[in-house]
Amino acid sequence: MRIIIVLLLYLFSLEAKTPYELGKDLYVAKACYSCHGHKAEGMNTFPALANRAKGYMAYKLKRFRSKKADTQAQQMMITYSVGLSDADIENLSIFMQDYVDEEMTERYDDSFQTHGDGGS
Ligand code: HEC
Repeated sequence: MRIIIVLLLYLFSLEAKTPYELGKDLYVAKACYSCHGHKAEGMNTFPALANRAKGYMAYKLKRFRSKKADTQAQQMMITYSVGLSDADIENLSIFMQDYVDEEMTERYDDSFQTHGDGGS
């Protein structure tokens, strides 16, 4: 019996997504990438969002959500933030702050490193 419970708990934990993953899903679903870039690196006049302070990102998104914009360019963000819940903003902000370029980590896979003295 106990093993079944452990197994079920394990299966549920596989289902649960981290805030980072939820934020990443939102970033794609809400098409944030279309302006801020696929790697949140920014594009033209659209600011980079990767690895920026979570508190500031959340502050800005909440400001945009309450339809406050300081410049005409920022007004663009109002449409994209009105539908966001507090949890959405939290997850998005965690994703932006902790952003890791997964392609890069794969490209520099060093698991095949050779060991030894190089044959000298
Ligand atoms: C249509 C283009 C567009 C889309 C789509 C868009 N943004 Fe923006 N975003 C902007 C513009 C423009 C600004 C304001 C830049 C400025 O201050 O000059 C901005 C600003 C921001 C800022 C504040 C950055 C700062 O440095 O102050 C955050 C955070 C942000 N966007 C997050 C998001 C998120 C999250 C999404 C998806 C839900 C999103 N944006 C979708 C255009 C866009």
